[in-house]
Amino acid sequence: MTQVCSLLIIALSVIYFRWCLEMKIVSVKEIFKGVFVVTDELGTERLATRNLVAGVSVYGERLMNFQGVEYREWVPYRSKLAAAIINGLKDIRISEGDRILYLGIASGTTSSHISDIIGPKGIIYGIEFAPRPMRDLVAVAQKRKNIIPLLKDARKPYEYAYIIGESVDGIYADIAQPDQSEIFIRNCRMFVRTNGYGFIAIKARSIDVARPPEKIFEEQKKILESNGFRIEEEIRLDPYAKDHIMFIGRWKP
Ligand SMILES: C[S@@+](CC[C@H](N)C(=O)[O-])C[C@H]1O[C@@H](n2cnc3c(N)ncnc32)[C@H](O)[C@@H]1O
Repeated sequence: MTQVCSLLIIALSVIYFRWCLEMKIVSVKEIFKGVFVVTDELGTERLATRNLVAGVSVYGERLMNFQGVEYREWVPYRSKLAAAIINGLKDIRISEGDRILYLGIASGTTSSHISDIIGPKGIIYGIEFAPRPMRDLVAVAQKRKNIIPLLKDARKPYEYAYIIGESVDGIYADIAQPDQSEIFIRNCRMFVRTNGYGFIAIKARSIDVARPPEKIFEEQKKILESNGFRIEEEIRLDPYAKDHIMFIGRWKP
């Protein structure tokens, strides 16, 4: 009996999975350059980017075809940048051909969508100090030639300065460390061109579990602004990432 139930569950899951994959897309709307909202026949809207590597899914996300173009669903529970967009980001800032420094790239979930947006002429220098996610990232970067994985500590930017060389157009930081803002500023000073853009996701609990997130966010904002990062947008990432905020702005030292 248990075996029959298990088989039934597996069969239903396979049918559901295939149904999801084959869901008919009825419209695609570009909300920022390279970022889309895809609507299916049931009226469900999903954030997506155009897949740079056709047929390949990076983290199990849905692939969707419309008028001969393949899109990849951008899942807000998996990516804080997607959460920021859904929660009202006004300007994506990232453009085709940009050079970006990414601190805490992990296995490449968010960066794969940035890779879609910047296209083959852009480049992402991905800093990650943990070997496990780096292994997965290397596999992603073998297919996405615009991602350069670097097994480095973001606290020591001088250790990768020789690889990055000239200044980058933007920086994205998501390292969930108590001194993340200081690390971000250190990297801005070394690599970001004047007026280049920056994204920093801050998790209140990785700074202090006891104090209210609002107080922590205010303190972090002061550290960033007093060191030359001009904040243009601040977006809470709940419910997708609990007690997180994203500060987005420009490096104007
Ligand atoms: C929240 S995860 C990043 C998720 C990723 N940004 C995404 O959306 O796909 C944080 C990552 O930062 C890395 N990290 C933390 N401190 C770091 C440091 N000092 N240098 C490099 N990587 C670091 C962790 O190993 C972890 O993989």
